[in-house]
Amino acid sequence: MTGSDRQTAVVVGGAGGIGRAICRKLAEAGLRVALLDLNEAAGSTIVGSLTGHDHIFVRVDVTSEASVDAAFASVEAHAAASKLVIVSGGPLGTPAAPANIFTVSLDEWNRTLELNATGTFLCLRKFAQLRVAKPVPATRILLFASITGQLGGSMTGPAYPASKAAVMGLTRQAALDLAPHNIIVNAIAPGSVATDELKRFVDASMMKALEARAPLHRIASPEEIADAACFLLSDACSYITGATLDVNGGALMR
Ligand SMILES: NC(=O)c1ccc[n+]([C@@H]2O[C@H](COP(=O)([O-])OP(=O)(O)OC[C@H]3O[C@@H](n4cnc5c(N)ncnc54)[C@H](O)[C@@H]3O)[C@@H](O)[C@H]2O)c1
Repeated sequence: MTGSDRQTAVVVGGAGGIGRAICRKLAEAGLRVALLDLNEAAGSTIVGSLTGHDHIFVRVDVTSEASVDAAFASVEAHAAASKLVIVSGGPLGTPAAPANIFTVSLDEWNRTLELNATGTFLCLRKFAQLRVAKPVPATRILLFASITGQLGGSMTGPAYPASKAAVMGLTRQAALDLAPHNIIVNAIAPGSVATDELKRFVDASMMKALEARAPLHRIASPEEIADAACFLLSDACSYITGATLDVNGGALMR
């Protein structure tokens, strides 16, 4: 894609393990990438390393409505994006001593919901308002849930699975509300993915156990999640909306 046909993708959380793999694949496919993240140093470095030109980094804190509004306004001044990926967030509990339903603090609960559920909602709502005001063909939105939102998570504490279940509900509601505008909304629920963030929660022996338990005897690479993301953002994904795609190597089949 070149010139005026060239599409812009906003990747919120693009400096993370899965996010950067998505940015790379979208840039290789010819899209202009607007990488939004709290981590300025990593985000700017990744933007500088992407294939092609005109990619931008914009700092955002997804937990702040003002920050989200400003970041999306800044992208819009550059180009009206047709793709939105929200892959920011993660568990906020203490890996060495994960909380359970008896011990989880209100502070951990609120901060986790704010980051994963409210942060996703704020970005999605802003982007939807912009695209309804100024429609762009082939608009797609992709959110990130987690297998823990389907099964619960012994390592992450209760707040994280609850926040990811909220993302799945939000995916369905946004798909309904945006269908009249021909905007497609889906989510991915990954199983374990080999990122630095996972390694914060899983040591070497736990990793071996995870791999042994996995039907494919390994966990996913970020690139495998990015391949599924690229499909859900593509023109080929024209009649799937409101879905949460399980990309978990068979860890949960239904
Ligand atoms: N890695 C896994 O095994 C796994 C499994 C299931 C789901 N997920 C989900 O996939 C997504 C990405 O996971 P990852 O492993 O790449 O995580 P990661 O920690 O590598 O990436 C998350 C990114 O979000 C950014 N971020 C954090 N707080 C932010 C804020 N307030 N505002 C803006 N950006 C913020 C971080 O700077 C980081 O770049 C997360 O939503 C996670 O819950 C990951």
